[in-house]
Amino acid sequence: MSNLRIAVQKSGRLNEDSMNILKDIGISIDNGKDQLKASARNFPVEVFYLRNGDIPQYLRDGVVDAAIIGENVLIEKGNDLDFIERLGFSKCKVSIAVPKESNANSLKDLDGKRIATSYPETVRKYLKEYNIEAQLHIINGSVEIAPNIGLADGICDIVSSGSTLFKNGLKEIEVLLKSEAVLAVSPLISDQRKAILEKIQFRIQSVLKGRD
Ligand code: PRP
Ligand code: MG
Repeated sequence: MSNLRIAVQKSGRLNEDSMNILKDIGISIDNGKDQLKASARNFPVEVFYLRNGDIPQYLRDGVVDAAIIGENVLIEKGNDLDFIERLGFSKCKVSIAVPKESNANSLKDLDGKRIATSYPETVRKYLKEYNIEAQLHIINGSVEIAPNIGLADGICDIVSSGSTLFKNGLKEIEVLLKSEAVLAVSPLISDQRKAILEKIQFRIQSVLKGRD
């Protein structure tokens, strides 16, 4: 019988809770930390440890059958992909922020201005929706530093506790979307593996009900 191949974030905010939910549904992984792939001892599942941003393409290509991934990453890089379950952890917002002394109070106020972000597709979608023109600076991390070094008038990034915004003298002026971890599925998943995924989904639903 073929194993279900499920991707989780290799390191970062989702990793620990992703491994915990697998454990809570009774899937135990022999986890050598630097192994990029591990098999479950007691369930037909293989876990692939991947970079967040790479996961949508792996799903699309059918290299993995399912993934635990932030909805925000799906919106940014996998708008064509489906998810079958919200997992209730890694909740965050994708927000617009500006220096606290700025007069801007909403995304509209950044018309004609510069926005630094790691989420260009998400920002473009909202700019289009609001009919705003802004110049995007795409950077991969430490986005909150951009206004302080004169690179941008505002930023769009993930806000969780809000402490990164606070430490960099920024204020949130608009929440573009709210996100949490989801169970995403490949469009190319086989029927046999889909049956395994359905069992996992069922177990996850039980665990989540128990957490409420
Ligand atoms: C993420 C994100 C924000 C921050 C939000 O960055 O890009 O900067 O966390 O969390 P907070 O609201 O709880 O402060 P991360 O630390 O993962 O680093 P990176 O931006 O360099 O990827
Ligand atoms: Mg950051």
